[in-house]
Amino acid sequence: MSASPSYDVLVVGSGAAGLTVALQLAPKARVAVLSKSDLAESSTLHAQGGIAAVLDATDSTEFHVADTLVAGAGLCDADVVRFVVENAREAISRLIGYGVAFDREEPAAPGNGDEEPHYHLTREGGHSHRRIIHAADATGRAVETTLEQRARETANLDIFEHQLTIDVLREKDKSGKPGRCVGVYALNRKNGQVQLFRAKTVVLATGGASKVYLYSSNPDGCTGDGIAMAWRAGCRVANLEFMQFHPTVLYHPQAKSFLISEAVRGEGGRLLVPTTGERFMPRFDSRGELAPRDVVARAIDHEMKRLGLDYVHLDISHQPAEFITSHFPTIHAKCLEHGIDMTREPIPVVPAAHYTCGGVMTDKRGRTDVPGLYVVGEAAFTGLHGANRMASNSLLECLVYGTAAAEDILARLPSLPNPGDLPAWDESWVTNSDEEVVVSHNWEELRRFMWDYVGIVRTTKRLERAQHRIDLLLSEIEEYYGSFRVTNDLLELRNLALVAKLIIRSALARRESRGLHYTLDFPYPDPVAAPQNTILTPKRFRLAPAD
Ligand code: FAD
Ligand code: SIN
Repeated sequence: MSASPSYDVLVVGSGAAGLTVALQLAPKARVAVLSKSDLAESSTLHAQGGIAAVLDATDSTEFHVADTLVAGAGLCDADVVRFVVENAREAISRLIGYGVAFDREEPAAPGNGDEEPHYHLTREGGHSHRRIIHAADATGRAVETTLEQRARETANLDIFEHQLTIDVLREKDKSGKPGRCVGVYALNRKNGQVQLFRAKTVVLATGGASKVYLYSSNPDGCTGDGIAMAWRAGCRVANLEFMQFHPTVLYHPQAKSFLISEAVRGEGGRLLVPTTGERFMPRFDSRGELAPRDVVARAIDHEMKRLGLDYVHLDISHQPAEFITSHFPTIHAKCLEHGIDMTREPIPVVPAAHYTCGGVMTDKRGRTDVPGLYVVGEAAFTGLHGANRMASNSLLECLVYGTAAAEDILARLPSLPNPGDLPAWDESWVTNSDEEVVVSHNWEELRRFMWDYVGIVRTTKRLERAQHRIDLLLSEIEEYYGSFRVTNDLLELRNLALVAKLIIRSALARRESRGLHYTLDFPYPDPVAAPQNTILTPKRFRLAPAD
């Protein structure tokens, strides 16, 4: 076991949220960023559409706030929405300052005093105005690679790639109870060793949990690790029943998780029944293809089930070819790889799990129930998204909360002592596994029954079936975890199973349909009770490693 490194702040996760925190801390604090893959690999890297911000003269903070509240179906925290929307312009300016090249438009009157850069703004579902700043259809790549470059050249910032954090540690307080968060254990995925990292403060920026479903738009690492770690450490979680399904992911046997951006619908793309060519969205919602995502995903699911379809069509071929290739170069190229020319023919699409609206409860500074533990980005529940996230509000949340958390940490660091003695990871009670099949089997089973029983349309019976299965799986996984050396797949499965359990519990607790949670047993919002968040509190929490 190598000596354990010690920092002021450990940031777990290197997407938009984690790197925003790290870059704002590093000039003034000693920071380490841990990431379980290559530094850039994250949902952020794959984001397409863009970032919502009020940047057009015809738009206003009030409109952005109102649209977000409508999409959130009565469950957004209005103060939080205003806080995020009001800080959007500054967040975008910071990115531009780092060097992110967003798409520009020619000034309205060049040479006439109108020389300010004008950024091209696109539209997405639920937004009443054009307000999505973007870099063609690869905004996330532009943001993530720029942040990565800045991080790699920043002094005071150490980067540890391929380090899968297993759990956070809390030191004992004076009465012997779990106190402040003071570090993490992480598995080095290259050599299989577990290392202790010590810190005065830990930030989890580990992204979402959409890989809990069989079909997802997310990269492989989105296994809800931060949500599971924070729960085990003693944090409350909220609103995990609200898993967002993106309506349009490419349907092709060889295409793994490739999103067709909502911006395609924003620029005129229409959803059609493949067999008849009928445009079906107007039958479901007067906003057509630009209705909020829950409405569009459910409409597609309904048409697929009603007509026995494997997919529906998304058609933008009525737009000029040059418009399509310049606005959507990445999507155009990816479709061509699979023999689909979107300038001439429709794209086959299906809904897939996309975004985790719930998460670890935090305040406006990213602070959780555990002292010294912050959670930011998709892993957090801030109150911004309510029952349904509006497109392109999530990267914005990462940037605004990343900054708020960094400011709070900097203010507190001077009064925090270094962590005391902490136990090294203890492997004396485990052996190498001789039953890897248990992990691969349970991984498949979990994601399949979550898709079938806890998907876009739910019933109490199906949720109860899922609950029964998850309890069995969890006890098997815990037994396995207690007997064998940890591996990447085991740790991710353990986290996925825990988050699945929390999703199912939350879904069973909501006895109404609202936003992304739709159940045939209670098909309408509760007509009497005021809208409530679903808050789960852990019964007990652990002093890591495994008391
Ligand atoms: P991520 O960017 O997912 O980063 C998570 C980080 O945590 C990674 O570095 C990962 O390695 C690390 N990590 C996770 N677990 C561990 C662990 N146990 N140990 C160590 N490291 C760990 N949102 C928008 O606003 N606009 C869009 O246009 C948009 N398009 C999207 C398109 C796609 C295909 C997807 C998947 C999402 C899209 N979203 C979009 C959502 C948005 O991209 C995410 O919500 C956002 O990027 C999340 O950022 P994050 O920093 O919280 O997490
Ligand atoms: C998209 O481009 O459709 C994704 C936007 C988002 O998830 O916010």
